[in-house]
Amino acid sequence: MDEKEKLVDRDLHLFEAINEGKGEHLEGSESLPPIEPLTKAWDVAYVRFSVPDLNLYEDWVKDFGLKIMYKDENVIYSRGLEGDGFCHVAHRGPAKFLGFALQMKSEKDLKVLEENIDGCTEVHEIPGIEGSLCGGKRVSFIDPVCGFLVEAVSGRSVEVLTSARDRLEYNYGNKNFYKRDPNKLQDTSGNREADGSNTVYPGPPDVIKIGHVVLAAPVGDHHKLMKFMIETFGFLPTDSVIFEAPKSAEGHAINPEMFNKLKEAGPSPLYEGTFAEGSPTYACFFRCDRGETPTDHHTFFILSNMDPRMAPKGKGIQTQLSHASFEVSNLDDVWRGHMQLKNKAEFEEKRYEIAWGVGRHVLGSHIYDYWHDPYGHVHEHMSDGDRITRSFGQRIHSISGLGPNGHNQWGPTVKESGIRNLDGPAAATFYEKFDEETQQSLVNRDLSNVKQLVEDIRATD
Ligand SMILES: [Fe+2]
Repeated sequence: MDEKEKLVDRDLHLFEAINEGKGEHLEGSESLPPIEPLTKAWDVAYVRFSVPDLNLYEDWVKDFGLKIMYKDENVIYSRGLEGDGFCHVAHRGPAKFLGFALQMKSEKDLKVLEENIDGCTEVHEIPGIEGSLCGGKRVSFIDPVCGFLVEAVSGRSVEVLTSARDRLEYNYGNKNFYKRDPNKLQDTSGNREADGSNTVYPGPPDVIKIGHVVLAAPVGDHHKLMKFMIETFGFLPTDSVIFEAPKSAEGHAINPEMFNKLKEAGPSPLYEGTFAEGSPTYACFFRCDRGETPTDHHTFFILSNMDPRMAPKGKGIQTQLSHASFEVSNLDDVWRGHMQLKNKAEFEEKRYEIAWGVGRHVLGSHIYDYWHDPYGHVHEHMSDGDRITRSFGQRIHSISGLGPNGHNQWGPTVKESGIRNLDGPAAATFYEKFDEETQQSLVNRDLSNVKQLVEDIRATD
């Protein structure tokens, strides 16, 4: 067994330990970190990828359930039924996740970023095709911790689209909770594929909007990234996980290497004034600070990553897109997406691969289903997540106490499919089949092979 396999194996043990539910589940309403941020992001707006084969990728975008707003030989812009504009962009280029954009409430926030962030563009009207699709203003910069292209947008808008399917009314098996009228058939609600052809394909679900972006960052960088994002965009921790000491060198299944690295990473920026002050964070779900207006349990999430598959040749592990998540209407649509992607992979040999799902998380409560796109980047369908306000504070959990099934209310075991598949694109089994240049481009945050593309994206007129 080589070093790489050993580490992955040990990490698997770590998550099995979580599933055994050892220890106490520490939780409670704790105070929020005392930070005066530069701005307060309102939501996530979109994610950007570059992909070598746009034709192949167009099928992915459609099968996943996004609606294409515009495409030509260089780019595909897609959207959900709602949101402020396109929420997914695929440029023609080397296989790579380029970065993400946050939606700001006001143009003033863009000005604050322009004036305070090194290398930020001036505030500008969004030019070209992107401006014509949904208008708005923008700034952009390269994040100083990991090297992602970060954009902030304001004032974009598009018309809401209607779903092809009626909203489902579920019966709950109890006479007090029959929601659907007698003689109204679920089968005629449009839940079936529209053409009624009874193929193996249920059709894609309707994506409503982009939900959240998750980055998997090397231990140490993950704290720096958290600090930068909370100070710059005002994200609030909703649920985070701390790593407590192994009970003995071999007496605890938590990966001691991970524990030692986290100890070196020092105190988390999230815990001043809480019982966990001084502890490092293993992972944290961040929500937008909308005051007492409810927002998604998490819009941004940072996870610490020790997966050696995510190291470019001759370099250390680099930060990866863990996944981008897109909200769909309900459980039916999560399963519709699952069967569409599964059957396309099986019967048409599409390069789509299950990463983890279908299940329902504990933290955030949403029903999830994660899939690797044809270049390994994980896209999630999710539904029925928790809605949270500022007064919720934050909850802090002990990693060994998250059981008896820490990541699931219900769903597949870690061994069947699991969180290790969310470390980055090299976790897809087909990654090894890519040529070396593609592999290096996927896991390397260096933007030099997409320099021109990034300059074009950042153009201010
Ligand atoms: Fe997610």
